[in-house]
Amino acid sequence: MGLQRFTSGTVRYQSHWNAIQLFRRISTSTVTCSDNKINIGGKEYEKDHMTNITPRILSHIGWNLHSRKYHPLCHIRQRIVNYMYDRFLNPRGNPLFSVFDSINPVVTVDQNFDSLLIPKDHISRKKSDNYYVNQNTLLRAHTSAHQTEFMKMGLDNFIVVGDVYRRDEIDSSHYPVFHQLEGVRLCTEKEVYGNHQDMKKYKLFENVERTAERQGVHHIEAVMYLEKDLKNCLAGLATHLFGKDVEYRWVDAYFPFTHPSWELEVKIEDAWIELLGCGIIEQEILANAAVNDKIGWAFGLGLERWAMKLYSIPDIRLFWSRDSGFLSQFQFEDPTTSVTYKVSLIDSFTHPKTKRTSHCYRIVYRHMERPLSQKEVNVIHKKIEELAAERFKVTIR
Ligand code: PHE
Repeated sequence: MGLQRFTSGTVRYQSHWNAIQLFRRISTSTVTCSDNKINIGGKEYEKDHMTNITPRILSHIGWNLHSRKYHPLCHIRQRIVNYMYDRFLNPRGNPLFSVFDSINPVVTVDQNFDSLLIPKDHISRKKSDNYYVNQNTLLRAHTSAHQTEFMKMGLDNFIVVGDVYRRDEIDSSHYPVFHQLEGVRLCTEKEVYGNHQDMKKYKLFENVERTAERQGVHHIEAVMYLEKDLKNCLAGLATHLFGKDVEYRWVDAYFPFTHPSWELEVKIEDAWIELLGCGIIEQEILANAAVNDKIGWAFGLGLERWAMKLYSIPDIRLFWSRDSGFLSQFQFEDPTTSVTYKVSLIDSFTHPKTKRTSHCYRIVYRHMERPLSQKEVNVIHKKIEELAAERFKVTIR
């Protein structure tokens, strides 16, 4: 349903079957909708006054783009996970972090909000900002919704990757479905101070006043250690992926579930773009998960933004594209392969006598919302021809 609009309006479509076959939906996630019930992946939900999820949104469930071989979101997720695996090792040299990437996006209001100390009247709960299945259930708005359940299971270092859903206007950088990668790390006193002989005298906890720098229960030395660990990890990730010359900055932020909190911004074509949110986990969240001897940090990043920067992908809607012109550019095994998204050169020919070279490019025209008419395409195509002739001093044939 929702994806159908991407397949029409294409001029000179050439198929690469490999790319297209990768793009079959996982059949177990069937979604049906009747007058008073919604069935998602075999589970039935009663509709009520809060229900605002649409068939079009439901049609996005189950694609798991972040796990599709060769999809750019899968490449970037692999690179981030590999970075975390290499950076955090246990004493035996094995990766500390566990990765969970196929958790059902249908969550409870408790998971998405209450467990994260988000106040009952907080704007982020608004019906107009979320997709509610009913008053108790919604499509997760962030991967933070799973923090508590994994802490309760006793995990100290984990990564959650998944599709998240937010009601939003659609444009080149906003789409109501996108993908997040969440990292959570909890540390014992020994892990925080263990290597620092002179710090062994410090504790993790201390009853003090809550300030901008720390929660009321944290020892300042422990907070400083975690802040450094967190920021080095994430700034290291940005330079690992975007190169050591990437310009970044830390901005103070607010999240109900972390304090202090920060956002990492990276400069992309003269604009500062927010790439992630992070902070020191509210101790109350750990206490609610029966973790009483550790403190921790968490971060959540949007995979699309990172992939758009890394591969110069100009439009967030392209991630849902089934067009081979897009997908075929990412068909490589090694996720560290460097690519810049481009229109494809199909043929190049140099005339033996005149020594003039002809290039043939394929451009696929596609409106993000509706089919395009040939007439509309002709106007755009003409414009591109004129600009190419002017800028590159070429003759259009
Ligand atoms: N969940 C937050 C968001 O979606 C990001 C975040 C995750 C912030 C973890 C702090 C800690 O914006």
